[in-house]
Amino acid sequence: MKINILEKNDKLKSEVEIIFVKELDSLTQDKELLEILDFKAKDEACVLLAESKKIYVGYEKDNYDCIAIAIATAIKKLQTTKFKSANIVLNQELKDNFKALVEGAILGEYKFTDYKSEKEKRKIELDLIVEEKNSSLEKILNDSKIIAKAVNKARNMVNTAPADFYPEVMANIAQELAKDVDISCEVYGEKYLEKNNMMAMHSVGRASIHESKLIHLSYKPKNAKAKIVLVGKGLTYDSGGLSLKPADFMVTMKADKSGGCAVLSTMWAIAKLELPFEVHGIVGAVENMIGGNAYKPDDILKAKNGKTIEVRNTDAEGRLVLADCLCYAQDEIKDIDYIFDYATLTGACVVGVGEYTTGVMGNNEILKKEAVVSALNSGEYATALDFNRFLRKAIKSEIADVCNIANTRYGGAITAGMFLDNFIYEENKNKWIHFDIAGPAFVEKAWGYNPHGASGTGVRFTVEFLRGLLKD
Ligand code: BES
Ligand code: ZN
Ligand code: ZN
Repeated sequence: MKINILEKNDKLKSEVEIIFVKELDSLTQDKELLEILDFKAKDEACVLLAESKKIYVGYEKDNYDCIAIAIATAIKKLQTTKFKSANIVLNQELKDNFKALVEGAILGEYKFTDYKSEKEKRKIELDLIVEEKNSSLEKILNDSKIIAKAVNKARNMVNTAPADFYPEVMANIAQELAKDVDISCEVYGEKYLEKNNMMAMHSVGRASIHESKLIHLSYKPKNAKAKIVLVGKGLTYDSGGLSLKPADFMVTMKADKSGGCAVLSTMWAIAKLELPFEVHGIVGAVENMIGGNAYKPDDILKAKNGKTIEVRNTDAEGRLVLADCLCYAQDEIKDIDYIFDYATLTGACVVGVGEYTTGVMGNNEILKKEAVVSALNSGEYATALDFNRFLRKAIKSEIADVCNIANTRYGGAITAGMFLDNFIYEENKNKWIHFDIAGPAFVEKAWGYNPHGASGTGVRFTVEFLRGLLKD
C-alpha cells in the first residue's frame, strides 16, 4: 500500500473518499441515505455509496483499536471493488490516532496468497489529507509503515507451510533480513549444540530430518543506550513428538514458530527504525517430530547451565528449546538490561486469558506492568500472570533438578513460565519477561484487522516498549 500525506489544496487523484463516522448526527451529507441503509456508527459498520464514490465507516471511540479496525474495514470494502485509491480528510481524532490509522490500513490490507493459484496484485493508494503537513506526522507515517511491514513479514513466515519452512529455511531468512538492514547474523547447527552442552534443545530436534539451527542476530548501533536480548521459540513444526498430539490439536502447529518469527521481524524493524539500543535476537529453530531417534518421556536432559530436566511429555518441548537459548543468551551477552522471550508455549495460556491476549510473566512486577502497558499502547492485548511458590513446587522432579511438566492440571501457563525461570541467571532475574503468545499468534477465526492466519504478535509491543525507554 502506498500512503501519502497531502494538504487540502493539493491536487487529489484518489477515486473514493473514506469518511469516519462516530455520530451519524454530525454528518451534513448522506445522513438520510445512511439511515435508510441502516448504517450505524459502530465498529466494523461500513457502507459503500458507489455512485457518489464514498465509503462510510463507523467507529465507537478514538483509540487505537477502534481507528485501526475502522480503516481496515474500509480498506477491505475497497478491496471488493475495482477502485484502487482512496482519501481520508483527517479530523482531530484521526490525527491523534495517526499511528493506528497507518498501521490499521497496512495490517488490514494484508492477505496471504502464496499458495493460491490466482493472486490479486492490486496495490491500493491512500491519501491522508491534513490542513498543513508537519514533520511529526511524517515521522509517525514512516515509523508505522516500518512496524506494520515487520508485522506482515512475521505473518508471511508463520503462514508458510512446514514443508517449505524448516529450521534451515528460517536461518536463511534470518540471514536475508540481517543483510537487508546491515546487521550481523550467526547460525549454528547441531554440532555446535552438542559441543556447547545444549542437549535440551538438541534432543527436541533429534528425530527430525531437518537439522536444528540456533540463530543469533545482533544490532549494535554506536552509543547504544541499553542492551536488550530477545529470545524466540522457533518450532517450525510441533507434532508433539512421541507424546503425539491428537489430530485436531496438531493442525496449526506450523505456527509454533511464531515467537521466533516475531523476534526476527522485530530485529528487522528495530534496525530499520535505527533505535539507539544494542539488541540481540536469538531463535531456537527446531522441528519436533517422531522417529526411532526421537527423545522420549523418561529421558533426562542436561541444559547448558548444567541443570538436569526430567522429560515426562515430549510435547512440552518449547520450554526445553528456550532453556538452552536463554542460557546461550546469558553466557554470550554480558550486562544485559532486558531479556525477553516470546513463545507459543502453552494451550493453558489460551484457556486462561483467551485467544486475543498474551500472557506476561516474570519476577519483576513493575517490568511486567510496563510490558502490559506497552502492549496495550501498541494495539496488542496482554495481561500479567503471576508466579507463586506453590506452583513452583509442581515442577519438582524426583530424579532430576526439574520436570518439564507440572504435576497438576491447573496453572499450566505459569508453571511453564516458572520452568523457564530455572534458566535465568541470578543477575538477570529482574530483567527477564516471558511472553506466552500461544493465543494471539495464530488467528483461527478472523477478528478486528486480523484475517485468518498468523497475526504477527509481539512485533508491535516490543518496538513500543523499546521506544518507551527513550522517554525515561
Ligand atoms: N506449542 C504447544 C502450545 C500451544 C498449544 C500453542 C495451542 C498454540 C496453541 C506446546 O508445545 C505444547 O504442546 N504444550 C503443551 C504442554 C503440556 C504438555 C504440559 C500443552 O499446552 O498442552
Ligand atoms: Zn508441544
Ligand atoms: Zn510447541
